[in-house]
Order: sequence, then structure tokens, then C-alpha cells
Amino acid sequence: MIKHFIKYRLYLFILILIIIVISTIKIVNIKKSEGVEFVIGMSQANLTEPWRISMNKEIIAQAKQYKNIKIVYKDAGGDTNKQKKDINELVSVGVDLLIVSINDSKKLTPLVSEVYKTIPVIVLDRAVEGYDYSLYIGPDNENIGIQAGNLVVDLIGENQGKVIEVQGVLDSSPVIARSNGFKSVIKKHPNVKIFRTIVSEWQRDEAEDKITEVLKEDKDINVIFTHNDYMALGAYKAVYKLGLKNIKIIGVDGLTGENGGLDLVSKGILQGTFTCKTGGSEAINYAMEILNKKTDIPKKTILKSEKITMENVNEYLNNKFKKSVEKKDITIGYAQLTSESKWRDANSISIKTAAKNDGINLDFREYGYTQADQKKLIRDLIKKKVDVIAFSPFVKSGWDDVLMEAKNAGISVILSDRSVDSDDSLWNCNIGSDFIEEGRRAARLLLTRFKDKDVNIFELQGNMGSAPQIEREAGFKEVIKDYHNYKIVATETGNFSFENGKQVIKKFLKTRSKDINVVYAHNDDMALGAIEAIKEAGLVPGKDIVVIGIDGTREALLSIIKGEMYCTIECNPLLGPQLMKTASQIMMGEDVPVKIVNAEDIFTEFNSAKEVNNRLY
Ligand code: AHR
Repeated sequence: MIKHFIKYRLYLFILILIIIVISTIKIVNIKKSEGVEFVIGMSQANLTEPWRISMNKEIIAQAKQYKNIKIVYKDAGGDTNKQKKDINELVSVGVDLLIVSINDSKKLTPLVSEVYKTIPVIVLDRAVEGYDYSLYIGPDNENIGIQAGNLVVDLIGENQGKVIEVQGVLDSSPVIARSNGFKSVIKKHPNVKIFRTIVSEWQRDEAEDKITEVLKEDKDINVIFTHNDYMALGAYKAVYKLGLKNIKIIGVDGLTGENGGLDLVSKGILQGTFTCKTGGSEAINYAMEILNKKTDIPKKTILKSEKITMENVNEYLNNKFKKSVEKKDITIGYAQLTSESKWRDANSISIKTAAKNDGINLDFREYGYTQADQKKLIRDLIKKKVDVIAFSPFVKSGWDDVLMEAKNAGISVILSDRSVDSDDSLWNCNIGSDFIEEGRRAARLLLTRFKDKDVNIFELQGNMGSAPQIEREAGFKEVIKDYHNYKIVATETGNFSFENGKQVIKKFLKTRSKDINVVYAHNDDMALGAIEAIKEAGLVPGKDIVVIGIDGTREALLSIIKGEMYCTIECNPLLGPQLMKTASQIMMGEDVPVKIVNAEDIFTEFNSAKEVNNRLY
């Protein structure tokens, strides 16, 4: 029996070795015969939708900018099993990097995670679950749905209105997100009703047939919203055939070319569309950065979607084909908050260093710790007429006025680190972290530590109303809500500072030291302050009270190594290089993502000792 097992293992090992050797020979032959340095595999979900055809065309065009690469294309024809086979074939040939435009997120997540263990993977358009990939590039589909809902409401006005929603593939991630965003707007307007929701698989002819049937049932429809322009063309054919001239149609994608969304809007066939960039050219550019071992590669880039109507379609087309201008001397004005943490110190140093390295003029203003202080700094920079203003918003709300002033002054705005709830027409790009995910990660680590024991939590929050405070709280609560033995028994802000965090916990422990066994701090400085308070109260951090932080500072890792802090979730402050790159792209007239999310890690007792000397802050 054992002999058979050993023989089987030996044969398997030899077979795997042969496959590796063959694929190495194949890839070496491709590289030699083509004279290239890198081979990139591109797995496409299907080529029956114009948007995906456009994606591949973009990839082909962008790849021509690089003489040392070859792209090997696979088309899954909408079949997830075929896409799995395609990906395995690309990997077995030995491609250096995989770009995959996903057909079914859930079913392909395990395979993408597996491939990511051996080669870099760029996920395009539909995300996979989790974070096992090098980079995700895609749209904000919920925002597209919200924008579409707002346009439908505008088109209907105060009258009573009936709407047909036409979806792509049922339950696909973009359909769910777009529909959620769309319905979140419609439900706020009682005069607008969604009469029918149709599923048409992203296809024009299917949309035409199904809409025809619904309109025969009830012609009294005001607006048809289709999740892509291809189905919008089908809607138009249905409406035209039935002679119904008063029905308005809006779509999504905004592709160029005949019968593309931009063409349909300029002909008045569509009342509007929302651009949904494919990310193809961005994928090739980032693939080259990854293959050339560049360091500051983001984890996610979310591409901006713009509303296109008859009013702006020509301006949009002119800008789209405008050549980027030569990089000229630019001045960035930065409105920084007075430092409250080691994180902020590192953030400022990163910005100043990157500006110096890139030869960019930086007017760095640092004053105060309130929104009013920050607005004063911004207005001074507007007066100075800098080219780009960047700042880390103290709080999430209340920025429309000063952002509109910057826009009216022709100054581009980059939100560095934190986001705002102002419309993204008032700013160009947000470079930062996924604070909600940071909160989720903190909660998941707590679940691992305590499992089904009773956990009573003191939540030590950042400055109230800031994006990290709001979103870290939301992410943490989203995870623990299903565990009734996890309770937040007290919440107070420590304003992200060591001293404030210490004083808050010190005061609490004077009377209620038995009421908590966990402190969840929204940053490491407050976590370390809490630890000092715990020790001064005669308690043992890590034993009597478990402390979790966020940021991943060197001091936090040292505390973890000492067994005092339990863990910290990285929030990367080193945004300088990405900020300078994005500002330069804006000044050269290039499109930039609406959101760039950093790659971030988790530090526990298992990896802090290995990582501590690598920490740059
Ligand atoms: O916006 C990021 C947060 O701001 C960091 O987590 C915190 O340390 C800083 O004050």
C-alpha cells in the first residue's frame, strides 16, 4: 500500500515537473520568437458586449506603447467554466502576469486567489471576494445607479412618472450595485414609480423584445433606464417601432463610435448616459509598473463615471481626444492639519519628500485642528492661484462651499487620505484607505481572539465626523452585529491623539475597570495611550484588557512584540508619491481615477517582529 502511494506521489511529481518544464520552454520560446521580455495573459469574460470589445481594443492599443510585451488573449464566451480553463491555460503557458475581467465573481475567487500565489493578478471591472489580487480596477457601480436615479427624477420633475429598469445579467455584481444605487434615489421620490424591472443580459436584441412586450401591456411609460447603452439601443428600437415618441431613455457606458452611448446622446436617441471606463489602458500601465517592480502600486483604483447629456457630450468628446499637454512646472498647495499623531507626521514627510523628488513646487500649509482652520488654509491657496489643492479633510461633511470656490477658480482638488461627502464633480480624486475594511479587519481579529466568549468593548474613536471615525465604526459594527456576545459598552473620542486617548481610558477605569475587556482604538496613538492608562490603573494590557489599534506604526508593532497591544491594522500614510503622480496627470489633462485605495496589511504577534524594522513610520 505504502509502496503504491510513494510510486503515485513520485509519478505526480514527475508529471508536474514535466508541465513546468514544458510551460517554461513554451514561454521562453514565445519570448524568444517575439523578442519580448514579458508575456501578459488577458482572460476576458465574453466578447459579445460592445463594452468588453472596447476593453480589449484599449488593451491592444495601450500594449503597443510597450515594445517588450506580448498579450495572450482568451475569450470565455460568457462561460465561467471556460474562463477557469482559459486562466489555467494561461498560467500553464507561464505568463508573467494575469489580467482577468471576471464573468462570475464568486465562482472565480478561489482560482484567482490560487493564481495570485504564483504571479501578479490584475482584476478588471467585477471584483473578486476578498483581497487576493495585486490590483483591482473598476467603476463605482452604486454611484452610477445613484446618478441614473437622479437623472430619471430630473427628467420626470414634479409629475407622476413610471419607469422601466432594464438590467444586465441577473445578480451580477454591477447589476446589484447599479440597481441598489438607482432604487435608493427613486424611493425618495413618491411621484416616481418603477413600473417593471426587466433582465436582458446586457444584450440589445433581448432588451428590444422584452421592452416591446411590456410597452404593449402599458404604453404610459415616461423613462426607461438600461444598465448599458447596448440595451438602451434595443429600448430605442422598441419605442420607435411602437411609435411612442415621448419615452425618454438613459443608459450606461458612454462608448465612442457609431451607436456607442456618446453617439446615441449626440443624436438625441438617449437623454443621457454615464461613462463606465473599461480600465483596459490603466491595466496595461499598472501591469508594466508591477512587472518592473515599482513599489507604490495601489490595491484598488475606482474609475470616475461622468453624466453625459446633450449639454456636455461635445465638450466631453473634445476633451476625450485632447492630447495630454507636456508636463510643465506645477504648484501644489497642501492644507495639512496640525499633527495629532505619528501617522500625520509620516504623512507630511511623505508629501514633502515626494514633491522634492519629483521637482514639484509645494506650498505646504499646516495649521489648526478644525474644519474652519483648514478652510482658511484652502482659501489662502486659492488666492495664491496654485495649480492643484490637496488636503486631508478634518471631517467628512461641509466642504461644498470651499470646493466650489476652488472649482470656480479653475483649481483641481485631490482629497488626500480622507474622503468627503461632497459630489465628486467638486473634486478630482481621493487617494487613501478603505476605512470601512479597516474596521471590519479589526472586528475579525477580535472574533479570532475571543471566539464565543463575552466581549465588552470600549470604542475609542477618532475626531468625530471624520471619514476614518465614521467608517471604522461602521466596518467594525458590520462584523460584530451578528455576534450577540460582542458588545460596545462605551464610546468616546480621543481625537486620534496619544494623550487624549490615555485621559479618556484613565477616567473610565477609575470607576468601571471591570466593565470592559477590550479597547478598540481608531488609531495606534490612542491605543498606546490607552495601554499606558491600563498599566497606571494596575491592570495588565493583553491580559485584563485587550487593545486593538489602526495605522501600523513602528511603536505599535513594538508594543505587540512586548505583548501589550494585540494587533494593528495598517493605514498607509505614505501617500506622497501617488499624490504627485496624480497631480501631474491632472495637469497634463489625463483622466485620473476617482478613488485610489492603498494596499494595506495587518500586524499581529505572528509578523510584527519580522516587519518592525521595515516600518517607515
Ligand atoms: O485619516 C487617517 C487617520 O488620521 C489615521 O488613522 C490617524 O492616525 C490620523 O489622525
